[in-house]
Amino acid sequence: MKNLTKTTKFSWRFLMLALVGVLYLSAFTATQWKKEGNDKKMIGSEEWADYKNWYKVTKEPNTGDPTGFLDKEHRGVKAYRDVFVNSIGEATNKGEAEFPYPEGTIIVLEAFKDKGSWEEQKKPELTIMIKLSIATSPETGDWEFVDGASGKNRGSGTSKLGVFCGSCHINAMATDYNFMNYTTIGK
Ligand code: HEC
Repeated sequence: MKNLTKTTKFSWRFLMLALVGVLYLSAFTATQWKKEGNDKKMIGSEEWADYKNWYKVTKEPNTGDPTGFLDKEHRGVKAYRDVFVNSIGEATNKGEAEFPYPEGTIIVLEAFKDKGSWEEQKKPELTIMIKLSIATSPETGDWEFVDGASGKNRGSGTSKLGVFCGSCHINAMATDYNFMNYTTIGK
């Protein structure tokens, strides 16, 4: 009887400890899970959050229609536009490496409403191109197109944005769907 009480006491203590352990673990997992979820939501903008520090392709902002392919896109002919490329695509943009761009290249186009907005750096609209891995989107030259800084509206292949953006950017086929680079801007 004496022994039995001892074991019972022991198991209770053990059970309590186990319970606390399980509670702690599930709380920990829950916060981790939440954190990962939040990160996923952030990805959209984090990919190009520091684009202002990237290589600036445009020496002077584009305005009018320097390529002749603008139509009414990218806020039209009155807009002032700057282009930036991340370090992965920099050499290709400058003509120091061959087209096509390597996977992971990101190109950001900043479009300001007009000259005044550009001078004040006020409310730019961002459109972005991301180079995917080879043969993942043959319809768009393996580019994913993004409309807006949040990154929520994006597409490749035969998706809406894949077709819309791709069908105009294909005019720059010889330079991997990219209009603004050393061939158009100079070295
Ligand atoms: C009607 C043609 C047209 C459409 C549609 C179009 N673009 Fe462009 N895009 C251009 C032109 C022309 C430029 C060159 C920059 C300039 O003239 O300021 C350009 C430049 C860019 C650039 C800078 C890199 C480069 O190629 O010079 C990005 C990024 C970009 N566009 C993304 C997009 C995205 C994303 C979409 C779809 C939401 C899109 N574009 C739709 C014509 C188009």
